[in-house]
Amino acid sequence: MKKVVLAYSGGLDTSVCIPLLRERYGYEEVVAVTVDVGQPEADLKEARARGEKLSDAYREVDAKAEFVQDCIFPLIKANGDYEGYVLGTAIARPLIAEKVVEVAREVGAEAVAHGCTGKGNDQLRFDAVFRAAADLVLVAPVRELSLTRVEEKQYAAEHGIFFETVETEAEAEAETEAEAEAEAEAEVEEESKRWSVDENIWSRSVEGSELEEPSFFPPEEIFQWTVSQENAPAEAEVVEIGFEQGVPVSLNGQKKGGVSLLRWLNKTGGRHGVGRTDIIEDRVLGFKARENYEHPAATILLTAHRDLEQLVLTRNELRFKASVERAWSELVYKGLVKDPLYESLNAFVDKTQERVNGTVWVRLCKGVARVVGRASPNALYSEEVSFDVKQEQKWAEGFSLFHGFQSRQQQSK
Ligand code: ARG
Repeated sequence: MKKVVLAYSGGLDTSVCIPLLRERYGYEEVVAVTVDVGQPEADLKEARARGEKLSDAYREVDAKAEFVQDCIFPLIKANGDYEGYVLGTAIARPLIAEKVVEVAREVGAEAVAHGCTGKGNDQLRFDAVFRAAADLVLVAPVRELSLTRVEEKQYAAEHGIFFETVETEAEAEAETEAEAEAEAEAEVEEESKRWSVDENIWSRSVEGSELEEPSFFPPEEIFQWTVSQENAPAEAEVVEIGFEQGVPVSLNGQKKGGVSLLRWLNKTGGRHGVGRTDIIEDRVLGFKARENYEHPAATILLTAHRDLEQLVLTRNELRFKASVERAWSELVYKGLVKDPLYESLNAFVDKTQERVNGTVWVRLCKGVARVVGRASPNALYSEEVSFDVKQEQKWAEGFSLFHGFQSRQQQSK
């Protein structure tokens, strides 16, 4: 039996892949796998319903805890960001691909497939992991057939995917108010399908349609995790975050597991309008893309973590670590976490994080997350140099003699 395992999100691209894999590639059995990395319950439900209907076998893999532990925590320790953009989509892809490979081995499939186009970054991230499993055939139907979204929609309709409900008048009359409401909601949802959204517990990214035009202002409707600055309450809220070895472990003095910690911060930060980004991003292939992101927890945690590092790491460590962070982020953006360099960089980062313990207080108000206090048993801060302590100030004179020595030499030429 010719069997293929597909990374399935429930969206348009991956849904059309199911009939394509049968009709165009001759697979007799298509196993659809949805990897749960914290996408909304409604999306998972939709993926489940559609996946069960369209595929020969449907699987859902809960990878939330693993995602937080093995991907998000290392990202926080490395202050991961790419061109100022929170690495949300990029950091999840290799794990999703790995889970798909695992299922392929388990069910004895000969191939693995994804629904990425030939334009974005995700194809490369999936490919890097899929190709590492050299015995498995890699299939990317949307890319290989050069399908546009319009063509996909047409093909989907022909295969009964995303069918719009055509109701008769009698049905419309028999409809209760609740049903009518549900239908109106479904229409709104249908409308929102014009945006391409990728979501996990760390970030939500929205692109496509009018948003592709860089001068188009992002409409409020694209945001689901955050309120606008205008709608955020005027009263500030201060969150206390406890870190152990660079990893957030408590909120307002209460120990919390990674998944619930992130959920709580997303909700709380979102209520204050914290964590929106609208940027022009350089894709791996070199194209510029316009992307909008929501990421309240990420903004709060990275702001807090960087601040705590500033208190406990030496100046030399901070300077050098910045270059490591850049290399780390580029690898992750490209999906090259199988490169041995990734492991080496993590080893360095982990070593520095041994002393990143303490508490950071972050004030959330009107779209801004600002650190208002920090404390650590490993602080390198010394009270001896504070303004109020009497000190032999003339000791500094000797240092000052050599300060700027080279520029004076140059100027005297
Ligand atoms: N541009 C981002 C990246 O490559 C996110 C892409 C996410 N996809 C989406 N459909 N919004 O990491």
